[in-house]
Amino acid sequence: MLPLLQLVALLLHFIFISSFSAALAHNHDDPTIRTMEAFSGYPVHEPSSHGFSTPITSLSVDADTLVKQIEELSTFSDSPAPSVTRILYTEKDVLARRFVKSLMGLSGLSVREDAVGNIFGRWDGSEPDLPAVATGSHADAIPFSGKYDGVVGVLGALEAINVLKRSGFKPKRSLEIIFFTSEEPTRFGISCLGSRLLAGSDALAKALETTVDGQNISFISAASSAGYLTDPAQISTVFLKKGSYSAFLELHIEQGPILEEEGISIGVVTAIAAPASLKVEFEGTGGHAGAVLMPYRNDAGLAAAELALAVEKHVLDSGSIDTVGTVGILELHPGAINSIPSKSHLEIDTRDIDEERRNIVLKKIHESANEIAKRRRVKLSEFKIINQDPPAHSDKSIIEAMVSAAKDLNLTHKLMISRAYHDSLFMARVSPMGMIFIPCYKGYSHKPEEFASLKDMSNGVKVLALTLAKLSLQ
Ligand code: GLV
Ligand code: MN
Ligand code: MN
Repeated sequence: MLPLLQLVALLLHFIFISSFSAALAHNHDDPTIRTMEAFSGYPVHEPSSHGFSTPITSLSVDADTLVKQIEELSTFSDSPAPSVTRILYTEKDVLARRFVKSLMGLSGLSVREDAVGNIFGRWDGSEPDLPAVATGSHADAIPFSGKYDGVVGVLGALEAINVLKRSGFKPKRSLEIIFFTSEEPTRFGISCLGSRLLAGSDALAKALETTVDGQNISFISAASSAGYLTDPAQISTVFLKKGSYSAFLELHIEQGPILEEEGISIGVVTAIAAPASLKVEFEGTGGHAGAVLMPYRNDAGLAAAELALAVEKHVLDSGSIDTVGTVGILELHPGAINSIPSKSHLEIDTRDIDEERRNIVLKKIHESANEIAKRRRVKLSEFKIINQDPPAHSDKSIIEAMVSAAKDLNLTHKLMISRAYHDSLFMARVSPMGMIFIPCYKGYSHKPEEFASLKDMSNGVKVLALTLAKLSLQ
């Protein structure tokens, strides 16, 4: 005897197959209209050279290959598995780029790179002069992080294109995958470097002419050693013309626990929280850890420790759970157990979905830094706002397209906010933007335990493929 649940499933399956065959029979003489109807959400009058030649039920994701590619990409790492460390313009980053470019070529995309190494793979539509629909993410990884952050949005985008190609879909607007240079701020302290430049920042282009990393290697020489720009004047050639894309979409792991906890397949992002980051330095006179008595010290390390606690206090005082602050870097000089720190260096990250509230926290951190320096008789030698970005909002029509794709695919979805930042934050400045989230294990991210299941990634790829298809026909 079959258990009741299985019987019900069999029955539903039978009803679905019969009604689907009936629909096919009904539209017997026009296969294009048949598939258009099945895909709901774009006009049934599209010429037959556009759209799918197979029904939505046949959108099949090659998840095994996707997982193999994610595994292979994770081997380009400067830290041992399962962690991944892939820093901008290092050898491993260059190898990862080569891997992705070769996959783009295998998918029949025409590949180009800009002066800072943003990589573009284009599938020409039947109307290639129309602004294209773009999708993509990043593949750089902060020290000792995981395999999925960004990567799902790059390799998943490639699989979405493959899904569409296998289904016989013909895009009207071209579809383009973007591999963004350095979403993570690890090497040069600048988050979303590639997408910030694409969005057209003269101030950043100028700053990059003199930016150096922690080893005093300049941005220009690091970029040129990876095969990119040789002349600072090339930086501004990266800027996109407004209107280059009719839409930009990013597929990403949620990096939070909500979807998994609530058992929901797809997160449709409505807005991205406003991030800011700061660099702070204190200087004292240092000295011998045994010989200098406590009343005569001005310890730069203790000033940093106090400021770290002040960051936590100001964030908590905002009264909102949405305000967060992190001191992720705290370095002491000279870094010897028997020497009083003469210099300290902090890097502070703070974010909120409410920009004004985040700005109040920034102001309070600045006041605390001044007050601590005065009281402890150290010098506040640097207080630099690295970035103070506004939030970004997803485009209404792209939200609708994502929701309708999830519904067409019978996937549960939820509208949600992204607390992490993404290249989409900056693409939103030059294109209507939308983001698709998929669940990840316990919401883990930025650590080796990061994980997304084959099923969840397949769902994300399907929603991405279908949304790209819908948008490309608009
Ligand atoms: C992205 O990596 C972020 O820190 O939000
Ligand atoms: Mn990240
Ligand atoms: Mn990311």
